[in-house]
Amino acid sequence: MAARFDKYKKDLNRTGFVRYNPGYLQNLFGHTHINPFWVADSDFMVMPELQKALKKMAKRGVYPYELKTPAIKQPLVNWFKKRHKVTLTMEHLLFTTSVNTGLAAAIDELTQPGEGIIIQPPVYQAFKGIIEGVNRKVINNSLQLKNDTYHIDFNDLEKKAAVSTTTAMILCNPHNPVGRVWKKDELEQIATICQKHQVLMLTDEIHADIIYPGHQFTGMTEVYKGQSDQILMFGSAGKTFGIPGLVDSFIYTPNTELKKAMQARIMRFHLGKSNAFGNIALKTAYTHGYKWLDKKINYLAASVQAINKFLTNELPQVKMIHPEGTYQVWLDVSALAKNNKALKELLFTKARLGVNLGLEYGKEGKGFVRMNIASPRPLLLQALQQLKEAVNQ
Ligand SMILES: Cc1ncc(COP(=O)(O)O)c(C=O)c1O
Repeated sequence: MAARFDKYKKDLNRTGFVRYNPGYLQNLFGHTHINPFWVADSDFMVMPELQKALKKMAKRGVYPYELKTPAIKQPLVNWFKKRHKVTLTMEHLLFTTSVNTGLAAAIDELTQPGEGIIIQPPVYQAFKGIIEGVNRKVINNSLQLKNDTYHIDFNDLEKKAAVSTTTAMILCNPHNPVGRVWKKDELEQIATICQKHQVLMLTDEIHADIIYPGHQFTGMTEVYKGQSDQILMFGSAGKTFGIPGLVDSFIYTPNTELKKAMQARIMRFHLGKSNAFGNIALKTAYTHGYKWLDKKINYLAASVQAINKFLTNELPQVKMIHPEGTYQVWLDVSALAKNNKALKELLFTKARLGVNLGLEYGKEGKGFVRMNIASPRPLLLQALQQLKEAVNQ
């Protein structure tokens, strides 16, 4: 079983991949020779059915403008029902280039300049840029780390939601980078607060499919049950199947008014355009990907265990916050360096490890790094070995 995900094409030219691009590595880490575990992207080969379908599409040789027909959308709807007990209706699904495109468009369309948008740092670093990019204000509801688990400060959330200029919240579920899969009762509390204070819920569920054994994903759209509820859900097959360079993303809302507003925005700014390869990838992945994804999750879960074992036995100065979902691990490296400069020197120059510094996710990430583990396990262990050697130098 493991062999499938252990496969790594050594001779592949990765220069044009964001994760491996020498220019990016130089800018981010000060070196081009870096072992990169930063952007939330996957090194795994895609599932065989997907490659087969894409080859067939390449042979078709005719590529006019394409639509997202019901035949493309139905497998997505089925997937959410079967995998997550989340009901989506086809008429309320919209498509945009990427989740970030959708988030920026939604904030710009549905809130006003200067208004406050709540996020929960340490959190996916693009949220701040998206909010500020459309001239809104970031309102931080910082997560609290207690007994090695991150918790929501509901009192603080309520206080911030109650401010009249706070009009939306971006929820990250599962949470990147800390790996929490928010429980139903936590989601209910958030929903109650946001509904009470008329704060629009923008729930980013791009990592919904990567949930580790023992944990359960709950879709926020199942917590918000009403047809007129103020909620938009954002998702994509990109992370699940390791195909962000291939597929677009989707937005779902049960609310007809919100759907109409977003549909108009997407049309006005031409934010959605289907392409033949993306469409066939979406259909194939959500039709044939069930077992493949189970295997991938098992592989990732075993990698989490292997990392934990390595750290416990070989590098006890580094502690992992055990992820409940996502293929990121959040590592407490505060014992390794006195300050950020020394940490960068150790990680990037000595260990040649391209991981994200916790500070990218907000000041709450100080002393942490995020490591992407969607790579063959031998590469992950090699990376940790590099870190160990650098620490022991
Ligand atoms: C939480 C979260 N949202 C959105 C994105 C970006 O998705 P997209 O490439 O579809 O914009 C990422 C990518 O890492 C992510 O982790």
